[in-house]
Amino acid sequence: MDKLDGPRRPRVVLGVSGGIAAYKACELLRRLTESGHDVRVVPTAAALHFVGEATWAALSGHPAATEVWETVHEVPHVRIGQSADLVVVAPASTDLLAKAAHGLADDLLTNTLLTARCPVVFAPAMHTEMWEHPATQENVATLRRRGAVVIEPAVGRLTGVDTGKGRFPDPVEIYEICRRVLARGPQGHTTDLAGRHVVISAGGTREPLDPVRYLGNRSSGKQGYALARTAVARGARVTLVAGHTELSDPAGADVVRVGTAVQLREAVRKAAADADAVVMAAAVADFRPATYATGKIKKKDGQDPEPVALVRNPDILAELSADRARPGQLIVGFAAETDDVLANGRAKLARKGCDLLVVNEVGEHKTFGSAENEAVILAADGTETPVPYGPKETLADRVWDLVSAGLPDPS
Ligand code: CTP
Repeated sequence: MDKLDGPRRPRVVLGVSGGIAAYKACELLRRLTESGHDVRVVPTAAALHFVGEATWAALSGHPAATEVWETVHEVPHVRIGQSADLVVVAPASTDLLAKAAHGLADDLLTNTLLTARCPVVFAPAMHTEMWEHPATQENVATLRRRGAVVIEPAVGRLTGVDTGKGRFPDPVEIYEICRRVLARGPQGHTTDLAGRHVVISAGGTREPLDPVRYLGNRSSGKQGYALARTAVARGARVTLVAGHTELSDPAGADVVRVGTAVQLREAVRKAAADADAVVMAAAVADFRPATYATGKIKKKDGQDPEPVALVRNPDILAELSADRARPGQLIVGFAAETDDVLANGRAKLARKGCDLLVVNEVGEHKTFGSAENEAVILAADGTETPVPYGPKETLADRVWDLVSAGLPDPS
């Protein structure tokens, strides 16, 4: 985990409302403190039924702030919110979302939400019926309209025997969203992608030869996942179409898993139907075996192996660009080049017909598997945006800056 250094530790308020996922917020707290953030935990009275004050105090290094009427001379109901760089409410119950949307202030956490002038992130967790209820959905829409990041809950096992949407996302991934919001700073943070649907493809495709073998590539999926996280942190609805990768699902993204290029094409086209932007960060195999052997291909003594015949896969980026699902839809491609990087990039941008092409040089320690990247973003209008060597999230944010600026006004 990256440790922060600098003159002042970023101040984070972790609000915890009443829900069984409160125990998972301990892991989020741990991540935040271990990476150098100064965290004050503000649990509601209901949250304390699930996890007690001692746990919050031990993990944060501060007493848990629970009462408006304690240490009144320090005016905690105002001071805690005012001095925060980020407020994250995790888990956010349906009751807490309702109070926040309506500006109620009957405990320390709701007071804190009203006094905070910093970015606010909510990570809701509840049963599917409560999440889908029009009252909750309207409250979420209100909070998003006011600039809060409300992370879509995950789909999966809920408390008891239920399964559905409403699950608390992986706390490590909620931490990543918080990190992205903090990285852009109080001035830089905007939810400029709120109300937008973006589709991102990531990872490598695998083209099967037989039930045990495939043609694949070395893509780690990190750049596509960084794009998904940064888009969630900027308020977008995100569909992530993921080929092979070992990364865990980003919080707030709807993840569709695929294997082959043809499956990736189907999933991307389906999701793109109502998308504002599509970013093709996946490493799509250009070729697939012409035939698939339904049984394992066996070696035969004294015989040379059969050559593998290949056929072309569809060029998904070119298809998406030529046949836009909606007017004004922006299409972004990636290109990894080894030689004549910019010249090849410009030719590829024209050939594919996309709006932006992120071109990077591949070589040792660059691109594949690395957490860092360096690139130039070429635009169809001839402009070039160089992005110096740095985290893939920084490059992702530059891509979203250009997408955000290029999107037509919401209809
Ligand atoms: N791409 C795609 N469909 C393919 C191959 C690639 O949509 N069958 C997309 C990738 O997701 C990426 C972009 O196209 O956004 C560039 O991929 P690249 O492999 O560099 O392009 P190619 O046209 O295959 O060029 P090259 O001849 O250099 O391999």
